[in-house]
Amino acid sequence: MYKLYNGDCLEKLKQIKDNSIDLVIIDPPYEKKGNGYYCGGGSFGTNNREYHSQLDSNNLLNGVDNNVLDELIRVMKKGNIYIWCNKQQLRQYINYFEDKGYNTDLLTWHKTNPVPTCNNKYLSDTEYLLFFRENGVKIYGNYNTKKKYYVTPTNKKDKKTYNHPTVKPLNIIENLIINSSKEHDIILDCFMGSGTTGEACANTNRKFIGIELDNNYFDIASKRIEEAFFNAQNKEGAINEEE
Ligand SMILES: C[S@@+](CC[C@H](N)C(=O)[O-])C[C@H]1O[C@@H](n2cnc3c(N)ncnc32)[C@H](O)[C@@H]1O
Repeated sequence: MYKLYNGDCLEKLKQIKDNSIDLVIIDPPYEKKGNGYYCGGGSFGTNNREYHSQLDSNNLLNGVDNNVLDELIRVMKKGNIYIWCNKQQLRQYINYFEDKGYNTDLLTWHKTNPVPTCNNKYLSDTEYLLFFRENGVKIYGNYNTKKKYYVTPTNKKDKKTYNHPTVKPLNIIENLIINSSKEHDIILDCFMGSGTTGEACANTNRKFIGIELDNNYFDIASKRIEEAFFNAQNKEGAINEEE
């Protein structure tokens, strides 16, 4: 089961009930650079630009939008949220959630094929993934799913297939879901991009709510998620027949 919204997450989140979401996984655009808007090296289109100019005019720092975070806190049953971010955003997210009494973990994804950088700079080979949870929120999973670091190349094939610059690795997202939710739980991603979190939910038997601003990415994600849920259902049917 899944539900997808095309539009600005701050608006669309208002349609989601209080205390209804078990786990949030988000990957918001990271930062503004020159005339383009970048997230881990990829650029986005006009809609995203509008989003950022709105952030700038609200004097919100580094692309972190506390209004969206407030909405996410409202819709979660208990605080349980993963956020991909860049180095500049770490302090702001940690301050926001620790002020609310949440516990913090920092996970990382180390890319084995980073884009070369110019002199006097380290490679851009590390993505940060913050995990915040309220006291009492459980971690499931096992020894293999609970490590805090991942070492893999960026998946050029997925980027090409879904025509999106910052597709996250499906196996990482599946691990997060297995570690932080149970089957049939409801997972929310309000910056869903190509729909990786949605596909991961289909593969792990969770329900999914997704929001995406850009019309083109919304169509790509919708197709990907529809197929993933269809395949998961057929697989389940086949297993039941075998029993
Ligand atoms: C970093 S990408 C997410 C990529 C995704 N994790 C994946 O694996 O494909 C961020 C996405 O957020 C979308 N976005 C930007 N501002 C938004 C907003 N205000 N509401 C909803 N989506 C937004 C962008 O269009 C972009 O596709």
